[in-house]
Amino acid sequence: MSFRLQPAPPSRPNRCQLFGPGSRPALFEKMAASGADVVNLDLEDSVAPSDKDSARTNVIAAISDVDWGNKTLSVRINGLDTPYWYRDVVDLLEQAGERLDQIMIPKVGCGADIYAVDALVTAIEAAKSRSKRIDFEVIIESAAGINHVQEIAAASPRMVAMSLGAADFAASMGMQTTGIGGTQANYYMLHEGQKHWSDPWHWAQTAIVAACRTHGVLPVDGPFGDFSDDDGFRAQARRSATLGMVGKWAIHPKQIAIANEVFTPSDEQVAEAREILAAMEAAKAKGEGATVYKGRLVDIASIKQAEVIVRQSELIAGQ
Ligand code: COA
Ligand code: MG
Repeated sequence: MSFRLQPAPPSRPNRCQLFGPGSRPALFEKMAASGADVVNLDLEDSVAPSDKDSARTNVIAAISDVDWGNKTLSVRINGLDTPYWYRDVVDLLEQAGERLDQIMIPKVGCGADIYAVDALVTAIEAAKSRSKRIDFEVIIESAAGINHVQEIAAASPRMVAMSLGAADFAASMGMQTTGIGGTQANYYMLHEGQKHWSDPWHWAQTAIVAACRTHGVLPVDGPFGDFSDDDGFRAQARRSATLGMVGKWAIHPKQIAIANEVFTPSDEQVAEAREILAAMEAAKAKGEGATVYKGRLVDIASIKQAEVIVRQSELIAGQ
């Protein structure tokens, strides 16, 4: 272990991030009343170019007018390769109320992208005497983004969360698919004539988790496009949770309950984690560093694994 301790990520539930287009204000109250931990009002790719200005106006009004309860409230701005993003930042920071928690920066390619937005946000916060610091979340959804994932995670103290955006990522990588996340029909191994499907998103997810865990940022799985496929969504979410991600996007309200279910440790998982902690306490009292729990080895590393589950469950229970 390095002498530098791994920083703790923000202590807040982030099991589900619900998206809605800024151009559909009729959805805002429904988003606020939903079971999602985070609401993302979108100014980017779900908003047509002709609606960019009106969507921005809608979102700025809704930040103050809608009761968002205890949700984390985020606005996804347009990418730095568009003519819209600076106006998004300037108008949001100058006009939106203090209820706004964070902005989401899409398609980041390098740490300097974060630096640029940080410089602008910092200047406006000072000029307008904003009292709450705006946090950043980003989407890794390009070849450049995944290549520079570590410098992006480390780019600003404002960084709180990082998501994998499967659709733009697949396009940028030249992947032969139009699916948004989940199993890809042609990604299989053949063994004795049988197909065994593998997970093409796995390596990018683990790269994001490692960068996030190194720098105290929350790793999140992005969209699953086929909202008619509950089982496919659940399977993808379970893989992400197993890899260390803390939550997943919902692009339709029916995905919220599944994300909350998967990213909330179950009663059985929590009970087992507590039993492992108790078994290790008993071992420690006897001067032992390792013992047997249900026929398998548990040792000092098992304490840390069990604590991840107990801490997550306490965080969610205490929200
Ligand atoms: N948030 C809250 N409520 C939503 C919602 C959302 N994102 N999307 C749909 N609803 C509501 C509808 O208003 C409807 O409510 P009602 O029962 O009171 O009439 C109900 O959920 C069922 O909606 P449905 O008719 O199945 O969906 P739709 O055709 O209205 O919209 C989408 C489908 C996919 C276009 C819409 O869900 C959407 O825009 N999702 C977000 C897209 C987005 O933000 N993408 C960017 C990130 S990838
Ligand atoms: Mg995208």
